[in-house]
Amino acid sequence: MSFIEQTREFWRRDKTWFSSGQTRPYVDVSHQVILYIEGLSVSFDGFKALNELNLYINDGELRCLIGANGAGKTTLMDVITGKTPCDQGSVYFGQDINLLEHSEPKIAQLGIGRKFQKPTVFAAHTVFENLELSLNTHKGIWFTLVAKLSTAESDRIDEVLRTIGLEQQRNMLAGALSHGQKQWLEIGMLLAAEPRILLIDEPVAGMTAQETERTAELLTSLAGKHTVVVVEHDMEFVRSIARTVTVLHQGAVLAEGSMDSIQNNPDVIEVYLGEEP
Ligand SMILES: Nc1ncnc2c1ncn2[C@@H]1O[C@H](COP(=O)(O)OP(=O)(O)OP(=O)(O)O)[C@@H](O)[C@H]1O
Ligand SMILES: [Mg+2]
Repeated sequence: MSFIEQTREFWRRDKTWFSSGQTRPYVDVSHQVILYIEGLSVSFDGFKALNELNLYINDGELRCLIGANGAGKTTLMDVITGKTPCDQGSVYFGQDINLLEHSEPKIAQLGIGRKFQKPTVFAAHTVFENLELSLNTHKGIWFTLVAKLSTAESDRIDEVLRTIGLEQQRNMLAGALSHGQKQWLEIGMLLAAEPRILLIDEPVAGMTAQETERTAELLTSLAGKHTVVVVEHDMEFVRSIARTVTVLHQGAVLAEGSMDSIQNNPDVIEVYLGEEP
């Protein structure tokens, strides 16, 4: 047995005291709400990017956030994920987990996954390895390369590959994927950690029409098991996935409801200067 094989054997995760799953807190969703945001304000040099914003997201729902450039959509995701501190307000994960008390890595660990607009996959690694690395970010790259996957982990990656529709590309270098496929891989990397909430910022920007359609199917299929919050400017896409749409304007909620009610809302029409929202 070579050194590397011995090392692998020694570190077999299913044989060691290391737990391969992350320990997750109990999230109390007995009131159906998984994310409570109340009176949230953030200012940058006196400018209020979020202004006493109130927002409630139900467990398992797929919510779309829309709003003009600068409305505060990304800032809101930054506060939820611990990237940006707020001036006042509260953000609760379920009934009793105060997210404002936790750091950015801790919030990710608690089960809130964030996808930024630009795909950030490891181009020189295969699709499979990218998913493998995302399972083990807390163990480091060295550990991932020397340790064998447990059956449960390997099954989990196969399941994610099926969900994101990249089974055929499993051994392809991530750098060789199309833009849309990279976005799906990155969503898969979040899914590998089995998040309760997925926050996804502008997923279809730069995608072909076919990729956009496929992304709509993917996000729709994730709702229920996960809570999905999507920020998007592409209104056709929003219409195709949204049950409830929240419109942000100047850091606060301007309107909320079905896509039809939003499109006929006079305040929304005025803010969009008569353009079709
Ligand atoms: N780190 C920062 N420093 C200073 N100002 C900021 C910072 N982040 C955001 N802002 C400002 O806060 C406001 C809200 O920005 P935010 O990025 O949240 O908007 P958005 O709704 O995501 O817009 P877009 O649709 O263009 O992505 C903008 O006026 C922006 O310039
Ligand atoms: Mg933004």
